Amino acid sequence: MAQRSTLVLGIETSCDETGVALYGDNGLIADTLYSQVDMHAEYGGVVPELASRDHVRKLIPLVQQCFSDPGITPKDLSGVAYTAGPGLVGALFAGASVARSLAYGWSIPSIGVHHMEGHLLAPMLEVNAPSFPFIALLVSGGHTQLIKVTEVGQYKLLGESLDDAAGEAFDKTAKLLNLGYPGGPALAACAEQGDSSRFTFPRPMTNRPGLDFSFSGLKTFALTTSQKNELDEQTRADIARAFEDAVADTLTIKCKRALAQTGLSTLVVAGGVSANRRLRNTLNKMCDETNARVFYPRHEFCTDNGAMIAYAGYQRLLLGEHDKLSIQVRPRWPLSELNSPKTN
Ligand code: KG4
Ligand code: ZN
Repeated sequence: MAQRSTLVLGIETSCDETGVALYGDNGLIADTLYSQVDMHAEYGGVVPELASRDHVRKLIPLVQQCFSDPGITPKDLSGVAYTAGPGLVGALFAGASVARSLAYGWSIPSIGVHHMEGHLLAPMLEVNAPSFPFIALLVSGGHTQLIKVTEVGQYKLLGESLDDAAGEAFDKTAKLLNLGYPGGPALAACAEQGDSSRFTFPRPMTNRPGLDFSFSGLKTFALTTSQKNELDEQTRADIARAFEDAVADTLTIKCKRALAQTGLSTLVVAGGVSANRRLRNTLNKMCDETNARVFYPRHEFCTDNGAMIAYAGYQRLLLGEHDKLSIQVRPRWPLSELNSPKTN
């Protein structure tokens, strides 16, 4: 008997991007995204209530767009995956409710996916994909973590930020330099004009053993430097450059340490900050020097998207996982509490 094919609809609504995608046995089939960035920019950051309402408005049109290819209909689906956490509770509920209702209506299973598992598996969407085991550096707006990944669902936390996440530090530093929202890409663009020799910022927690991070001091360093100097355009760029260099170096030193400690030679970098060019350059150089291989998601899959959720849901569905009937989301959800699908 021919084996039934597997096709999963993935829905991402944990923060300010509405992402919907289709992933099946032949790879990624459709990928749609609506970014709320312009709406939140007016407020200088994400307004949770507005985010939830906008997800509700955009979800069904994006799902319909995924099925605009006449060759595919909801009847071909095997499951609906959605981000169940961590994230903003109202935003998560918007995606969970739509996903669970569609799955119920179509009589197929739904699968609640961990947002950070989505990020760390995102490089698997590329033709040149990493193979297990590997070290994952997850750098997003809410998380900075080093994880030993043995297979899907087998995650060991090696280190994490004790205060601000790397993306959060980018956003806060961009704000104090008046660079606008979202801060990461704005600060990176400004740093392009910066002189790397004018200011030197510390590389926090690198002169002691361990794999944890601390980024809140860098933001304070940026603040005091900006207060001690006239904040003209060049000074802003010089501070941005010093900050970016410090974050890139710090993350790279800890990745090198994690690879050495575990004896692994594959590094995966994912989450919004993995789009940062200077970070990639520093990591590439370190991996060249240590004979390690480094993998990143394509640029549009570094930040939040539906494709990574469809992919993680596809993997978990193949391993026999699906939700119970009640609708649950987990705004706080440590990756370490995520089970391997095989042991559920
Ligand atoms: O993964 P993501 O889209 O959402 C979360 O799960 O948090 O990451 C968003 C974060 C933001 O803090 C944003 O400023 C940062 O990623 N980011 C960047 C860049 N692009 C996005 N940070 C530095 N350089 C970039 N090019
Ligand atoms: Zn994310």
